[in-house]
Amino acid sequence: MAKINVVGQGECEFDGQFSMLEALDENGFDMPYSCRGGNCGACAVRLISGEVEEIQSPAYEAAAGEILTCSVIPLTDVEIELI
Ligand code: FES
Repeated sequence: MAKINVVGQGECEFDGQFSMLEALDENGFDMPYSCRGGNCGACAVRLISGEVEEIQSPAYEAAAGEILTCSVIPLTDVEIELI
C-alpha cells in the first residue's frame, strides 16, 4: 500500500480510495480543495517525491512539480507539501 506523507502534517496510507484527496480527507488531513473535479486548482500541492497517476483529465493545468490531489492516485509512496 502506498503511503502519503504530507510535510509537516504526518502520513497516511492510500487504501484504494477514489483519489489522493479522498484518502487524505478520510484520514483527517486538512487539505485545500473546492471542485474535486480538476477544474479549480485549489487542491494543488507540490510533489516532492514519488509517482502518481491521473484518474481524470483536469481542465486546470497544474504548474511544473505540482499535482492536483483530487485528480491523482499515488503509485508509490509519495511526499507532498502544501503550497
Ligand atoms: S479541487 Fe478543484 S482542481 Fe482539485
